[in-house]
Amino acid sequence: MTAAESFSNLIQAPSPVLALAPMQDVTTLQFMRVVARYGGPDVYWTEYFRVHGESRPEKWILDSITQNPTGKPVVAQLIGSDIPALVRNAKLLQKFPIAAIDLNLGCPAPIVYRKCAGGGLLREPQKIDAILGALREAVTVPFTVKTRIGFASPEEFDTLLPLFARHSLDLLTIHARTVAQMYRPGVRYDLIAHAARELKYPVLLNGNVFSAGQAKKLLAETGVRGLMIGRGAIRNPWLFDQIRAELRGEKKLVPTGRDLLHYIHELWENEITPSVRESAQVQRMKKFTNFIGDGMTGPFLHDIRRANTKADFWRVCEQALDHTEPMPLEPLDHAHNYHAIEPAALSQSP
Ligand SMILES: Cc1cc2nc3c(=O)[nH]c(=O)nc-3n(C[C@H](O)[C@H](O)[C@H](O)COP(=O)(O)O)c2cc1C
Repeated sequence: MTAAESFSNLIQAPSPVLALAPMQDVTTLQFMRVVARYGGPDVYWTEYFRVHGESRPEKWILDSITQNPTGKPVVAQLIGSDIPALVRNAKLLQKFPIAAIDLNLGCPAPIVYRKCAGGGLLREPQKIDAILGALREAVTVPFTVKTRIGFASPEEFDTLLPLFARHSLDLLTIHARTVAQMYRPGVRYDLIAHAARELKYPVLLNGNVFSAGQAKKLLAETGVRGLMIGRGAIRNPWLFDQIRAELRGEKKLVPTGRDLLHYIHELWENEITPSVRESAQVQRMKKFTNFIGDGMTGPFLHDIRRANTKADFWRVCEQALDHTEPMPLEPLDHAHNYHAIEPAALSQSP
């Protein structure tokens, strides 16, 4: 079976789909390998291939497709707004074992959106219309889109949703924040529920999914086909299996400090190139520990951000994690901010 066929079967099967979100500099081949050891998602997304002028798919991102160690499908994500270049890159990528082509309509980095790519395209619905039409024609594997709910205001979703509905996508992932909102609170799951009801193709919910109990609730309340999880999976790679256990009504594994320490060791072994200078190795690890530390009380986050040597790095990790106490499952700020959808919001027309 090809990766595209596995992906098509997955999104049509009855059980909820669990996806690892694309994350630049994080969802590398090496990270996918580590996450897969913890049960992992049903499907992976690459970080975005930057598409412009004469660009060709970046080799290091292609590695996660050609050397995919997970046994699960990998979707190739593109970012850009140059239609001939997008079509050319989509065709090139289809020569590799990709599950689908995904278009990024959400990146909030000013360097990207000022060029009217990623989230910047949400200010230009007509351009999105043209891109979706051209890519749908060029792409013979499944074609998917990952979007935010608007650029400046959630009200823009009123225009965006009918636009998406006009195109025969195979799946739409919705990160329920605006571009201007970046990662701030106020995730509009009610708009995702509305899209899941309106669209003829499957919808994945994305944004602030951090625990199995919350995942189960969101699946039931929004009627989506599945969940895409990013930061929650960096800090808790057990999360996908915890969600599966929760949905089956089984007891879920609660990792201890020592389990987390073991996970950080695995990240080090897979992510670190020994020939790279030591401070750069530690910097690389901070990409992960910044998220891992989010749920922890005490000085871990403060101290790890100041570590420059390998010895400092491991001293801080061991001081905080060499114990058998259960780890908190939700990041600190999130535990205070999370509210499942209010019933009133669900019945409101967005
Ligand atoms: C470090 C980092 C890099 C990201 N890179 C990408 C990317 O390449 N493509 C994309 O569509 N989204 C990217 N995102 C956004 C995530 O895919 C996701 O939409 C967002 O983090 C919200 O989901 P979460 O709350 O589960 O993390 C990135 C997010 C982070 C934190």
